[in-house]
Amino acid sequence: MSTFPKTRLRRLRRTDRLRGLVRETRLVLDDFVMPLFVGPDSRANPELPAMGRFSVEDLAREADELVALGVRAVLLFGIPEEKDEEGSGAYDDDGIVQRALQALRARHPDLLLLADVCLCEYTSHGHCGVIREGEVANDESLELIARTAVSHAEAGADAVCPSDMMDGRVAAIRSALDEAGLELTPIVAYAAKYASAFYGPFREAAESAPSFGDRRGYQMDPANVREALRELALDASEGADVLMVKPALPYLDVIRAARDRFDLPVAAYNVSGEYAMVKAAARHGWLDERAAALESLTAIKRAGAEFVVSYWTKELAQWL
Ligand code: PBG
Repeated sequence: MSTFPKTRLRRLRRTDRLRGLVRETRLVLDDFVMPLFVGPDSRANPELPAMGRFSVEDLAREADELVALGVRAVLLFGIPEEKDEEGSGAYDDDGIVQRALQALRARHPDLLLLADVCLCEYTSHGHCGVIREGEVANDESLELIARTAVSHAEAGADAVCPSDMMDGRVAAIRSALDEAGLELTPIVAYAAKYASAFYGPFREAAESAPSFGDRRGYQMDPANVREALRELALDASEGADVLMVKPALPYLDVIRAARDRFDLPVAAYNVSGEYAMVKAAARHGWLDERAAALESLTAIKRAGAEFVVSYWTKELAQWL
């Protein structure tokens, strides 16, 4: 191995052109998905712009803007007018996300429409399934989750993204989709989703904080990576088309482990808390938002994610 002074790594760092020539990871808009919240009314969030919500009408206008900027894909979350014990708004064919999907599908045939499949935004108790004897009942929830996925796909979703972390949901969704003749709808599974403190701003935006307890009985323990590989293997064997790791920045090792172990595409969710931290620090003048965001997103790609769900996607479209 040649060493100093023959080798000088600074040679290739001298100019922007040289650095560009040897750069290993690049950000391209094709790899980013913009999350969007749709609800009964529009509510801007001036401090965290991407955490605002849109009525179906305003969502269509926002999609026009995103498409004009070159954004390729969006991930929809719904806030229903009313919530109930069984989260029925999630699988209502006339539900908020279903109406949004129909509107966007007709208006932008080329925009990729992903739909988050979960009950927590629709249940009165804020948990991701139905409650029986104080706990989320896994097997009973599967049927409702699968119905939600089918209903999203029928409304025009290009892919369904289960984020509930119930055991067996990918298999349940796959067979329900196939039975409905939707065998070509892919499942982007939030396969390794951790019980994270970084979901705070999302839960406020989606009004989905659990009214009792927490999600540690179904989402993963942040301390575990081997368990994440078991989750990923199970979802892959149940028919997941893409494996997602979430959150992203505190879990780069999990993204890397997923990339090394599986040949399925790996996605990462750069969650609301990751976005909010940088926004807040930038507001105080402590960080340069753009530089910190670009560095974070580059790190997530470098760790091995094929695509990234990020609240910066709209701004990224302007930065790139
Ligand atoms: C629904 C869901 C959550 C997020 C995505 N889908 C919240 C949660 O599990 O509590 C979090 C996304 C974010 O923080 O940006 N289950």
